[in-house]
Amino acid sequence: KEIAFIFDLDGVIVDTAKYHFLAWRNLATQLGFEFTEAHNELLKGVSRIKSLEILLNIGKVQLSEEEKQKYLVQKNEEYLSFVNKMTSEEILPGVSNLLDYLDAHNIKYALGSASKNAPLILEKVGLYKRFSALVDGNDVSKAKPDPEVFLIGAKKLNMKPENCVVVEDAIAGVEAAKLANMKCVGIGDAEVLGKADVVFKDMTGFTSEFLNKLINN
Ligand code: G6P
Ligand code: MG
Repeated sequence: KEIAFIFDLDGVIVDTAKYHFLAWRNLATQLGFEFTEAHNELLKGVSRIKSLEILLNIGKVQLSEEEKQKYLVQKNEEYLSFVNKMTSEEILPGVSNLLDYLDAHNIKYALGSASKNAPLILEKVGLYKRFSALVDGNDVSKAKPDPEVFLIGAKKLNMKPENCVVVEDAIAGVEAAKLANMKCVGIGDAEVLGKADVVFKDMTGFTSEFLNKLINN
């Protein structure tokens, strides 16, 4: 059976959550409150503007629209200073092997990310050219858990949703995949990502045994 993969970026291909954290924490410090790693969990898979809203809620800070825009630009500039230093060393374990397997078996794959910086990040780690299609934060109007991002991905790959396999590390992303009527592999904690069809601790869970079974099903 012909299948295709759609990958989330942050937490699946690379760990950029740590850079988002540093930049959001600095903003919180500037605004006079503490922002912890536990707080940062709430921002995973969430759009840039929504992330700021959550952060401001945590600090009980109210800002005008103008100030929000200013801080969004500032946060992104700081985030990009980290992204610009990224290299292929930051590709998460298991990812390169999986992409090699997919290429060898002529299985197409797309990116389905909420990040507007996704193309730049892929370029930095040397994976940009390998993807058949990219859907990022610039292409979608409705954030995960809305299925829009993955449905656009399926369309770009010319695949039916039911033949797509989404790989996601965020609860909202797993929900979006299921709403899109796709298979979903969760990356992380099985208790947190319970709605996924299968959950691996990390990307090394994609053994050739698992993949052979998947494509021969
Ligand atoms: C991903 C990350 C989120 C981030 C969002 C937007 O979904 O998991 O933490 O807020 O992308 O990223 P951006 O690069 O556009 O600020
Ligand atoms: Mg993610």
